[in-house]
Amino acid sequence: MSLLAAVSLPPLLAARVSGMRTLSAAAEPDAMVAAASTAAAAVAAAVGHSNSSRAVAAEGAGAARATTLQAPKKAPLAAAASNVSSASGNKSSTRARPGEVLQYRRIVPGPKLTGAADPKAFEVYDGCRSRAYGKPGNFNFTVYCENSTTGHNVSFWHEIPLDLATNPQDGAITFWVTNEIPRGTNAKIETVTTVPHNPMAQNVVATPAVNGTTAAAAPPQIRFYRVGPSLVNYGGIPQTWEASDEADPLTGLPADNDPLDFIEIGAAPIPVGGVVRVKLLGALSLVDQGETDWKMVVINVKDPNATKWDDIIDVPAAKRQQLYDFFRTYKVAEGKQANHFTANTATANRNTTAGAATQPPQQAKEATTWQEAYFGRDAAAKVLRGKYAEWQRLLAGGCTTPRCTPLAEAAVAGGISGVSGGAAPKPGGKQKAK
Ligand SMILES: *[C@@H]1O[C@H](CO)[C@@H](O)[C@H](O)[C@H]1NC(C)=O
Ligand SMILES: *[C@@H]1O[C@H](CO)[C@@H](O)[C@H](O)[C@H]1NC(C)=O
Ligand SMILES: *[C@@H]1O[C@H](CO)[C@@H](O)[C@H](O)[C@H]1NC(C)=O
Ligand SMILES: *[C@@H]1O[C@H](CO)[C@@H](O)[C@H](O)[C@H]1NC(C)=O
Ligand SMILES: *[C@@H]1O[C@H](CO)[C@@H](O)[C@H](O)[C@H]1NC(C)=O
Ligand SMILES: *[C@@H]1O[C@H](CO)[C@@H](O)[C@H](O)[C@H]1NC(C)=O
Ligand SMILES: *[C@@H]1O[C@H](CO)[C@@H](O)[C@H](O)[C@H]1NC(C)=O
Ligand SMILES: *[C@@H]1O[C@H](CO)[C@@H](O)[C@H](O)[C@H]1NC(C)=O
Ligand SMILES: *[C@@H]1O[C@H](CO)[C@@H](O)[C@H](O)[C@H]1NC(C)=O
Repeated sequence: MSLLAAVSLPPLLAARVSGMRTLSAAAEPDAMVAAASTAAAAVAAAVGHSNSSRAVAAEGAGAARATTLQAPKKAPLAAAASNVSSASGNKSSTRARPGEVLQYRRIVPGPKLTGAADPKAFEVYDGCRSRAYGKPGNFNFTVYCENSTTGHNVSFWHEIPLDLATNPQDGAITFWVTNEIPRGTNAKIETVTTVPHNPMAQNVVATPAVNGTTAAAAPPQIRFYRVGPSLVNYGGIPQTWEASDEADPLTGLPADNDPLDFIEIGAAPIPVGGVVRVKLLGALSLVDQGETDWKMVVINVKDPNATKWDDIIDVPAAKRQQLYDFFRTYKVAEGKQANHFTANTATANRNTTAGAATQPPQQAKEATTWQEAYFGRDAAAKVLRGKYAEWQRLLAGGCTTPRCTPLAEAAVAGGISGVSGGAAPKPGGKQKAK
C-alpha cells in the first residue's frame, strides 16, 4: 500500500500527492532530505492534521527559515534554458535541506506569477478571473477560477471552454489553455482533478518512511522541477481527458487520467491560472511509466513567432531538440526513469503527418531520435479532438473504473451540468476574448 493510505490526508492535499500509485521509498531518494521541513509543518497545520503537525514541528524546531532560491538578477531566460544538461547537473540548487521552504526560482526578471495574463502579450479569456490563495511555493498555494459575471468558483477543467476553432484561410487551429507552470519557474503546480471546481494547487510528493519514522511524521513534500526552471509555459487543455480506462488509439497504452497537457513555446511567461488562446503546432507522444501522456506543442497567438510558425516543422530544429531533451529527462533529477516517446512513423511535416495518428497501436514504435518523436499539426489536431470526445464520455458517465470515477464525482459535486444525464455538455460556448 502507498504511504498515503496510512497518512489519511484531507482530500485537497491527498488529491495532489504525485505518483500515488507508483511511489516507493526507493523511487524518491531526495524526498527524505527535507523530511523535517517547516513547510511540512505548515501544511499539516493548514489542513488540520494535528498529529503530523506536532511530530514535524518538534523535529523542525529551531530550523524555521525560508530560503528563496533566486537566479542571479541578470540571468537571461535564454541562458538558463540553453543547456538542459548543465541545469540538471545542479541538484544542490534545488534540493531542500531540513528547515528550508523552497520558493519559486524566478529566472525571468519580474514575471507576474499569478493573476490574469497581460492582454498586451496574450489573447486572454475573460469568462473567469483567477484568484490565488496562499503564496506561490507554499504547500497551501491554490488558484481558483472565479466566474467573471457571478463571482462563483468555476472549474478550470470543465467550465472553461475549449472553443476549438479552425481558420478557413490557413487552417490554423486555436483554442484556450489554462496555465499551471509559468516559463522560467520550477514549482510543480497541477490542476486537481478530484475536487470540485478543479483548482490549481502546488503538487506534493510522498516522503518515504525512514528508520521507523511513521508516515504521519513524514508528510508530503513540495514538488518542484529539480532539473531547473521550465523552458516552456505548461498546463492543461480544458474539456479534454486522457482516458485511463481505454487504450490510446495511437500508442495502444492507456493514458494518465488527466486533462491533455500543452507546452507553450512562446517568449512571454503566462501566470499560474492564466487562460490564454494558443495555436496548435504539433505534439509529442510521451510515455511516462507505461502511460500515454501527450504534450500538445502550441504557441501564444500573440507571440511574434506565431505568424511564422504554422506547423512543428517550422520551429527551428535546435528548439525542437531542446524541448525533446527537456521532457525526456526532466524527471531523472527527481529519481525517476527517463521518459519515452512513441515514434511518428511519417516525416513530421504538415503534409505527411495527418494520417500518422491512425496507425494501429501494434505499429506504434518507440522513438529513437528527437525527429521521430514529433507529430505535425494535423495529427495533433486529431489527438486533441479524440481527447475532447473522451472528456465528453467522462462527463456523460462513461467511466466505470475506480481510477476515473472520482473525476466525474468531483464534477457532479462542483455542480457541472450534463454529468449524470447521459447527454454530453456542449463544446465551449463563444466566450469573448479581450
Ligand atoms: C499520532 O502519532 C503517534 C506517535 O507518532 C501515534 O502513536 C498515533 O497512532 C498517531 N495518531 C493518529 C491519529 O495518527
Ligand atoms: C552544456 O553544458 C555541458 C556541461 O557544462 C557542456 O559540456 C556543453 O558543451 C554545453 N552544451 C551547450 C550546447 O552549451
Ligand atoms: C548551482 O547552483 C548554485 C546556486 O544557485 C550556483 O551558485 C552554482 O553556480 C550552480 N552551479 C552550476 C554548475 O551551475
Ligand atoms: C497558508 O499557510 C501559511 C502558513 O501556515 C498561513 O500563514 C496562511 O494563512 C495559509 N494561507 C491560506 C490561504 O490558507
Ligand atoms: C458564468 O456565469 C454565467 C451566468 O450564470 C454563465 O452564463 C457562464 O457560462 C459562466 N461562465 C463560466 C466560465 O462558468
Ligand atoms: C472559492 O474557493 C475558495 C477555496 O475553497 C474559497 O475560499 C472561496 O470562498 C470560494 N469562492 C466563492 C465565491 O465561493
Ligand atoms: C538511519 O539509520 C542508520 C543506521 O542506524 C543511520 O546510519 C542513518 O543515518 C539513519 N538515517 C536517517 C535519515 O536518520
Ligand atoms: C522566435 O524564434 C526564434 C527562433 O527560435 C528565436 O530566436 C526568437 O527569440 C523568437 N522570438 C520570440 C519573440 O520568442
Ligand atoms: C505540401 O502540400 C502542399 C499543398 O498540398 C504543396 O504545395 C507542398 O509542395 C507540399 N510540401 C511538401 C514538402 O511536400
